[in-house]
Amino acid sequence: MYNISEADKKWVDEIWAKIDSKLRTVAPLNKDKIPYTTVDGVYNDMAKEDITWWTNGFWPGMMWLMYVGTKNEMYKEVAENAEKMLDAAFEEYDHLHHDVGFMWHISSGVNYRLFGGKKSRVRTSIAADMLASRYNSSGKYIRAWNEDKVGWVIIDCMMNIPLLYWASEEYKDPRFKYIAMNHADTVMKTHIRPDGSVNHIVDLDPVTGEPKEAFGGQGYELGSSWSRGQAWAIYGYVISYIHTGKQEYLDTAKRVAHYFIANVCDDWLPKADFRCPDEPVIYDSTAGACTACGLLEIARLVPEHEKKLYLNAAMNLLKAMEKNFCNWTEEEQSILQMGTEAYFCRPQGKHAAIIYGDYYFIEAIYKLKGFDMLFW
Ligand code: GLY
Repeated sequence: MYNISEADKKWVDEIWAKIDSKLRTVAPLNKDKIPYTTVDGVYNDMAKEDITWWTNGFWPGMMWLMYVGTKNEMYKEVAENAEKMLDAAFEEYDHLHHDVGFMWHISSGVNYRLFGGKKSRVRTSIAADMLASRYNSSGKYIRAWNEDKVGWVIIDCMMNIPLLYWASEEYKDPRFKYIAMNHADTVMKTHIRPDGSVNHIVDLDPVTGEPKEAFGGQGYELGSSWSRGQAWAIYGYVISYIHTGKQEYLDTAKRVAHYFIANVCDDWLPKADFRCPDEPVIYDSTAGACTACGLLEIARLVPEHEKKLYLNAAMNLLKAMEKNFCNWTEEEQSILQMGTEAYFCRPQGKHAAIIYGDYYFIEAIYKLKGFDMLFW
């Protein structure tokens, strides 16, 4: 349990109650959908639009967080329904990618860990095998995307590899863990810069694993610092530390966290990129929510006198975002607003409700409530 003040405990309790109250209405209304964003306040349906879309695990994941936190069976039913709908994605094999970790680890993976069902184990195992099969054993990395992107490695994959730690533990077979660790070791050299900022995309030589070219990706430009990329690194490396005990992973998570904390605006509202022109101001709430989760894990793991830095930063981020970016009204089905897909993106993807913003915001509050089942 986190050592927070009585006032902060009260705030956490209030926010958890508001989340539960909102989702008790919203979840059944959307039980036959897999949402990504809202249009005029109503969730869209990726099961119809693109079943292979990388975010399709977050809705069931959110439902599982709420089930674990409340034991309300309705959340379990909605999560299980989405998990079944996701089966159609396996039929679209050619369009799947490294984000099978995001898609199945927190959907069927959590279901299996909670209830041990055979179907959920099979789904999660297929996803782990798919992810492992993307490993390049010469270059020592997991390729992100398909077609000619043979050497493209993106920082986001640090949140996919926890699925491989699960597979190693489940099958008592270390090869999945070695793949995950080799990938994490490569990315520490190729993506994490000495100052704690992070490259989004690096194209690696498929034979030597040496970097050939970096790209700005979803950030402002080459050499800038896409804040969600920082978030993937912070949370991804701390999870790798939890599963392996390798100190360098915790140190890396801390270094990127220090960079994030130093760069987040004075008001704790995260911009989409930390190295971009002052105008226009583009926020990305999803980066703040995911970073808060990473900071809360770091706070659990560091010695007593270090904890405060990470815990306070997580609380500051969450409170600032709750005050400025959350919508608790009935007119809007999502909670956290002001997410941004990429610095340069379609208008609908800027300052929008994005499902993983809600997912990580809820996960952070879940952690602060003291629920300790790690979803990753
Ligand atoms: N994984 C893609 C993104 O973070 O937008």
